Amino acid sequence: MHQPTLLQMGPLTDAFNDRLSALHATHRIWEQPDREAFLREIGPQVDIIVTSGRYGCSADVMAALPNLKAIISFGVGYDPIDIDAARARNIRVSNTPDVLNDCVADLAMGLMIASARRIAQGDRFVRDGLWGLQPFPLGSRVSGKRLGILGLGRIGKCVARRASGFDMDIRYHNRRPDPTVSFGYEASLVELAQWADYLVLTCVGGPSTQGLVNSEVLAALGPKGTLINVARGSVVDQPALVELLLEGRLGGAALDVFAEEPQVPAELLELPQLVLLPHVGSGTHETRRQMEELVFENLATFISRGELVTPVL
Ligand code: 8YV
Repeated sequence: MHQPTLLQMGPLTDAFNDRLSALHATHRIWEQPDREAFLREIGPQVDIIVTSGRYGCSADVMAALPNLKAIISFGVGYDPIDIDAARARNIRVSNTPDVLNDCVADLAMGLMIASARRIAQGDRFVRDGLWGLQPFPLGSRVSGKRLGILGLGRIGKCVARRASGFDMDIRYHNRRPDPTVSFGYEASLVELAQWADYLVLTCVGGPSTQGLVNSEVLAALGPKGTLINVARGSVVDQPALVELLLEGRLGGAALDVFAEEPQVPAELLELPQLVLLPHVGSGTHETRRQMEELVFENLATFISRGELVTPVL
C-alpha cells in the first residue's frame, strides 16, 4: 500500500500522536467539531484506523469508511471495537497483547495488598495528621490466603505466578479447564467466589463476560472477601457491587476499571477501605513504550505487506 491515509480515533501521548502524524497522512477525529460531516468528507480516503482500547471503533464509523482495510489498536482489550462488523467486511484488526502482562499483573498484586493492608487508607490517615490521635484499623493477611482468578489467560497466569510467591492457594474459573496448568479449576464462578479470600478479574471484556460477576457471585465472595478488578468494568454488575459494599455483604474492592469510565459511583468514594485507580493497569513508561512500538510494527507490516504482527482478526 502506498502512502495510506489514517484516521486516529483519539489522542494517545503527544509523542505517539506526533510520531504517527510525522510518518503518515493522519486525520484526528477528536479535533473535528462535526464528526459526522468530517467522516462524510474524508471517509472514502481512509485506509487504516488507529485507535485504542478506550476509543474503539463502532460499526457506524466503519460504515462511513468504504475503503477501510485495517484497525490498529493500542491496548490488549478490543471490546469497544465492533469485531463482527470488521469481520463482515474483512477488515483486519490488531491489538497489543503480552507486552503489558507483567505490569497489569503487578498492579493486580499491588491492589490486592493495598486493599488487604489498607495502604491507601493508611496514607490518608498519616497525611490527615491522625497518627497518634486515633488507632488505625488492622488489615488482613495476603500471604497463604486463597486466590480465585476469573480468566486464567495471559495476564491471569502472570498473577498466579506472582501469587505463588506469596504461598497463596490458587484456583481459577475459565470457560473450560486449561490442561497446561496445575491450579484447581472451578466450573462454577459462584463456588470459586465462595472459596476465595480474594477474587481477581483478568478476563476479557465485551459481551461474553458482561455482568458475569453479579450479585450472587459478590455475595458468595462475602463480607470477608475482596474483589480486585484489572479487567473491565463491564465484567461486574456495578450497581450490585455498590449495594453489597454499602450493606457490608462484600468485604472490600480494589478497582482499576469501572463501568462508565471516568465516572466512579459517588457511593464508592465514601467507602474508605476501597482502593480506586484511574485505569492504569498498563500505565508504566516501559510498557506503554512497548505497546506503542507494537502499534507501529503492526502499522508498518500491514502497509508494507498486508500482514499484522499481533492480529485479532
Ligand atoms: C490501555 C487496557 O490503557 O490494554 C488494555 O486493554 O485497558 C489498557 O492497557 C487502554 O486500552 C488504552 O487506552
